Amino acid sequence: MKGLQGRRVFITGASSGIGAGMAKVLAGYGCKLVLHYNRNEKGIAQTLATVKEMGGEAEIIRGDFEQLDQLDKLFEQAWQFFGGLDALVNNAGLITKTLSLKDPAGEKFSRTLAVNLHAPYQLSCAFAKACIEAKQAGAIVNNSSIHGQATCEWFAAYAASKAALDAVTKVQAIEWGKYGIRVNVLAPGVVPVERTFDILNKPEMEQKWTNAMPAGRYGTVEEMGEATAYLLSEHSSWMSGSILTLDGGLIARGNYPQR
Ligand SMILES: NC(=O)c1ccc[n+]([C@@H]2O[C@H](COP(=O)([O-])OP(=O)(O)OC[C@H]3O[C@@H](n4cnc5c(N)ncnc54)[C@H](OP(=O)(O)O)[C@@H]3O)[C@@H](O)[C@H]2O)c1
Repeated sequence: MKGLQGRRVFITGASSGIGAGMAKVLAGYGCKLVLHYNRNEKGIAQTLATVKEMGGEAEIIRGDFEQLDQLDKLFEQAWQFFGGLDALVNNAGLITKTLSLKDPAGEKFSRTLAVNLHAPYQLSCAFAKACIEAKQAGAIVNNSSIHGQATCEWFAAYAASKAALDAVTKVQAIEWGKYGIRVNVLAPGVVPVERTFDILNKPEMEQKWTNAMPAGRYGTVEEMGEATAYLLSEHSSWMSGSILTLDGGLIARGNYPQR
């Protein structure tokens, strides 16, 4: 893919699932990676090993995004590994599912907004500031979700965080276009990951979901990685403030299965 060789990319939440898939794909395109994790040490070691086996270069960094006061320091460390960064992938996310009446005081709601919205906002600001100071261009991908566009019961906190992330993406794309910084959203549909394998791979569950998807199957973490690579590459050089939805046609049809 054009313009990715040697690019320095910071991926948050690279210890499993989509983030690990992004790391593998971007390493394959020759990117140098800063891989973030929070609690999953085994997972990040596995992602790092995969990248190294491919001949890639990567460093790891740990941070809890509920500790918002530590994020600027975390970003500074991430920036220093390779003497700067060319791209930021805000992928880490807290996937909360709660009926609103089970969280009436909004404890989960606030935590979800901290990790899924405030942290990417803050990291993107730190990245943009550093790029502007270094007089260089940059690209940001915010991993949102189809829940930013169409949602269902249980997802008040999650859908709010993702819809707001979509909005922040547009605003930051407008504010930072003049500095050569592009900001876009990747909006995945249903992509089985370690966290959801057991549930989504049950035959009746798989049937329910895939019946609702024109493509007739789930997505893969590699497909999310390829789309991210596209959004960071020169192939999307005129794309900013956009939402790239990859969901097998699920929300185009507009029929989420009943939970
Ligand atoms: N899989 C899907 O179907 C799907 C669909 C749409 C959107 N997404 C989005 O894709 C992203 C990745 O999700 P995934 O499905 O790949 O799930 P996952 O495997 O559970 O990955 C979540 C990642 O976020 C990190 N994370 C969670 N809480 C954190 C915190 N407090 N501070 C810092 N990092 C934290 C985790 O780190 P540790 O495990 O190391 O703690 C992990 O690396 C999320 O933003 C999610 O909303 C996923």
